[in-house]
Amino acid sequence: MDVFEAIHHRHMDAMVKPDAVPRALIEKLLSAAVQAPNHYKVRPWRFVVLTGNGLRALGDVMAASFQDRMPDQPPEVVDKTRALPLRAPLIIAVGVDKPGEGKVSEIENIVAASAACQNLLLAAHAEGLAVKWRTGEWALEARVKEFLGFQPDQHLIAFLYIGYPANPVSHNPRPSFEDRTVWVE
Ligand SMILES: Cc1cc2nc3c(=O)[nH]c(=O)nc-3n(C[C@H](O)[C@H](O)[C@H](O)COP(=O)(O)O)c2cc1C
Repeated sequence: MDVFEAIHHRHMDAMVKPDAVPRALIEKLLSAAVQAPNHYKVRPWRFVVLTGNGLRALGDVMAASFQDRMPDQPPEVVDKTRALPLRAPLIIAVGVDKPGEGKVSEIENIVAASAACQNLLLAAHAEGLAVKWRTGEWALEARVKEFLGFQPDQHLIAFLYIGYPANPVSHNPRPSFEDRTVWVE
């Protein structure tokens, strides 16, 4: 697929089929992700690939956290939280390394990891997959970070929900760059 075709026609799609994404294809997406630029060659991205019982385990962590914070909620509401990760057959959670000593900066690590996410989104689109990038409260939750192997002060920038689109992919052209651009000549 032409790169401009992928960039212009990629859309987040929340509705995906339950069909598994083959391991080789997941690896292809991750390989595309790590082609992103990064300063000082720190490769600050960390990926946690969740499928099957991994998704269910994440749901259990989210449900336990929800229950602790909202102890009066009925079981069916807790179970809704537990089911959140099951909205796709594959989630790739993306964390960012904290900068060590020296010139490495937090913001540069975050933007590099974000570029890796965008690479992954475009690669997924080219492969006929749909992705929904989610963060929300769960990306800030210490127990979720711990489950994923991240430190409490590490940024968790994405839960990429990935699968084969359940519906035909529609194209909604996005606003132009013009009102976001100045030219200094
Ligand atoms: C960093 C980031 C976090 C996001 N978090 C959420 C989220 O938690 N829930 C949600 O519905 N959309 C979230 N979105 C927005 C959607 O993933 C998506 O970008 C938006 O629906 C526009 O879709 P498009 O890619 O088709 O333009 C997030 C987007 C980004 C870039």
